[in-house]
Amino acid sequence: MANDASAVFDTLSPAVSRGSLADSFTPPADSTLWRKNFLLGAATASYQIEGAVNEDDRLPSIWDTFSAIPGKVLAGDTGAVACDHYHRWEADVEMLASLGLEGYRLSIAWPRVMDAAGVPNRKGLDFYKRLLNRLKEKGITTFVTLYHWDLPQHLEDRGGWLNRDTAYRFADYADLMSRELAGTVDAWATLNEPWCSAYLGYGNGHHAPGLANDRFATQAMHHLLLAHGLAMPVLRANDPASEKGIVANIGRGTPNSDSAADQRAAHLFEVQHNAWILDPLLKGSYPQDLFELWPGTEPLVLDGDMQTISAPLDFLGTNYYFRTNVASDGAHGFRDVPLEGVERTQMGWEVYPDGLRDLLTGFKKTYHNLPPIYITENGMASDDQVTDGHVEDTQRISFLKRHLAAVDQAIKAGVDIRGYFLWSLMDNFEWAFGYERRFGVVHVDYSTQKRTIKRSAELVEKFLKERKARA
Ligand code: FCB
Repeated sequence: MANDASAVFDTLSPAVSRGSLADSFTPPADSTLWRKNFLLGAATASYQIEGAVNEDDRLPSIWDTFSAIPGKVLAGDTGAVACDHYHRWEADVEMLASLGLEGYRLSIAWPRVMDAAGVPNRKGLDFYKRLLNRLKEKGITTFVTLYHWDLPQHLEDRGGWLNRDTAYRFADYADLMSRELAGTVDAWATLNEPWCSAYLGYGNGHHAPGLANDRFATQAMHHLLLAHGLAMPVLRANDPASEKGIVANIGRGTPNSDSAADQRAAHLFEVQHNAWILDPLLKGSYPQDLFELWPGTEPLVLDGDMQTISAPLDFLGTNYYFRTNVASDGAHGFRDVPLEGVERTQMGWEVYPDGLRDLLTGFKKTYHNLPPIYITENGMASDDQVTDGHVEDTQRISFLKRHLAAVDQAIKAGVDIRGYFLWSLMDNFEWAFGYERRFGVVHVDYSTQKRTIKRSAELVEKFLKERKARA
């Protein structure tokens, strides 16, 4: 697949062929990206980089359990060692700072910081304190996600996100973290991509804990959003100076034809990917069309839940990767119709920067209370190789440039976008795809843990230097 993707890239993007890209990442002179207060950073997540799963009394997470089941993760990979960041964090922070990146989005491993009775784990807490203090010393803006999918297994054993109690346990965890880390965190995100936790985790089983039932997915989503809503006032009380928000993946669905049925299919796709999460957060209700797609799956919602969930956000983080072309499935849903001859990445995902712009400008119209936006993830996987100490990740350079141009267009169309985080700082454990898919702007050799700065990171660094040097 990797070879196919780059072949397509070469044929479809002659204007950005390897030669012309080599030295240029710099946006045009009129780009809003030149604004110094537009934050440019990189993101990672705990389970994907830390390793050290049995150290310092860390408890097992659902991803330890899931990745140990044969057939769940490509090549049987697990996060047991990952990028060994738990031991190499100092060098990794140096690397981040040396690239001139202004922001770092990381996540905390819930199983590292408290035991099953809720008693704080000092060693785990100290790891994050040291890390965040160092980032602050380096002048890096810190975005901390509390839940990037690594639920403690003992909570899953009691029903996980199907159990309402997990939402209250999450608020306790948010309380501990914000009391311990206040002053070192610039922005807190409660959850990363509740769509993936709920749908991939409980709806189709591709992710931990691996259950597959639409009704489970809607109930898990409700408890995830409730967890977010319960945590927000706790974070506000304990750490008033920081920003608080949530991170959602956003998906573009386009109709395969002009037919009313296909248009409806594309609408339902976006309801399922976007409105399912954004409507409760920003309108205080679930989109009724969701239950047309999945009849009879209404979650159990208690009085007051929707008010809790829809309390104002300081920011909305959005993660964008690709678009999906869909047609009606002939019943009440949609089916994917992959387009031929389009540029794709190693994941098989279509490269479609306009989708990012169109989603954001669309949200601005749909939600009158849309908070300031950060692009909290964007990037692509390619089969990157180190040759003579260098990695020429040509497709990624072009990908990033085009997506940043889409961000600029959305800003010019009136969307308040304040920053952008590359996914990812370094190659890491890509969930069900293991280590094969490389999303980093830094290459990781997993046998030696050697980091090699890819060409894309060098060019981002160059741009950031130029921007800093401007009057
Ligand atoms: C997102 C996840 C992130 C990473 C990217 C490729 O869905 O938030 O951890 O795996 O996809």
